[in-house]
Amino acid sequence: MKLERFELERNQSEWEHHVKYNLSESGVEPLHIKDLLDTQELKDQLLDLQLGYSQTNGTVALREAISYHYPGTTVEHILATTGGAEANFLVTWWLHKENPNRNELIFLIPNYMQISGIWKNLGGKVIPFKLKMTDGKWVPDFNGLRAAVSEKTAAIAICTPNNPTGKLFSAEELKTIVDIASEHGVWVVSDEIYRGAELQEGKAPSVHGLYDKVLITSSLSKAYGLPGLRLGWVVCPSPKTALELWAYSDYTTICPAKTSDWLGTLALQPDIQANIEKRTRQVIRENWVVMEKWIAKHSGLMTTIPPGASAICFIKLKDGINSLDFTMQLKKEKSVLISPGEHFEMPGYIRIGFGSEKEYLELALKKISELLDAYSS
Ligand SMILES: Cc1ncc(COP(=O)(O)O)c(C=O)c1O
Repeated sequence: MKLERFELERNQSEWEHHVKYNLSESGVEPLHIKDLLDTQELKDQLLDLQLGYSQTNGTVALREAISYHYPGTTVEHILATTGGAEANFLVTWWLHKENPNRNELIFLIPNYMQISGIWKNLGGKVIPFKLKMTDGKWVPDFNGLRAAVSEKTAAIAICTPNNPTGKLFSAEELKTIVDIASEHGVWVVSDEIYRGAELQEGKAPSVHGLYDKVLITSSLSKAYGLPGLRLGWVVCPSPKTALELWAYSDYTTICPAKTSDWLGTLALQPDIQANIEKRTRQVIRENWVVMEKWIAKHSGLMTTIPPGASAICFIKLKDGINSLDFTMQLKKEKSVLISPGEHFEMPGYIRIGFGSEKEYLELALKKISELLDAYSS
């Protein structure tokens, strides 16, 4: 069987370090280690860290720090992973293996296509659950979801706040999904990596605690601006599920990097975490003003629905502009990397990351304008 490629990541892997302007990144400008180590005592502690293997499911200190943010959980509900990518991989592999008679995965589209790609590569079938642009909003197709769920369904996988649209599912919408899933005894997987990066007031609702078959994946990569730590986690509904998933991680990365476990524990301390999220939201809110102005300038060629959270904006190009060709031309002629809608099964769209430093963002957008001008003339 041919490998289903993860086109979004492949494109970024090939280009992100070779273009002058990289707007394919979906997080905010990353923090530095020194931003976390603000006392000499902390610096000394990091330098004293012995680089052995770490506790393979995450140290107790790390899992305590994660569990604090999910009321009602303990360290035993948490599995620490190497990034959200490993969390998603383990959950998908586990679901596939544990449900031999349920070969179908219902998958929100558009989405970060990792979970669906892995499911297909394991031999499973993926059924889309669509978000549709309706009256200036992203609206989930619940009728389609109800029709798709059956005794063959292993799970419904969503991403909220959503990559690439920035759509933030309301508490009511999440309850509808959970209700549909529970009627059929189906798992819900919710990738909540952008939670904490809200553009609007208030934290994005979570599926946490809504149902006893819910798995949440997340990491420090987006809302925390710490992607280089490669630290993620799965929040499980019971210690039993966490133990089962842990056995799968023995085959993947063994343990999170020791330095990341230590620095991640620090970043997740309530007061530090609150400051990091505050910074993320500030970057996103300030840069959104730049982005919105730029979109308005090109309103003859594009439309968008403002994201509720995340540093990404999903833009519909005017009919007749081929999004794949456009992004290709952009990287070759202007050295700017953005992602085409094709990488989210949404041709005709482009995804632009706006979490970088403001000046860099403005220069990169100027380059995109140069190419767009050729389309409007
Ligand atoms: C929705 C979503 N989940 C998971 C990941 C992977 O996260 P990490 O960098 O923590 O592995 C990404 C990365 O872009 C993402 O957008």
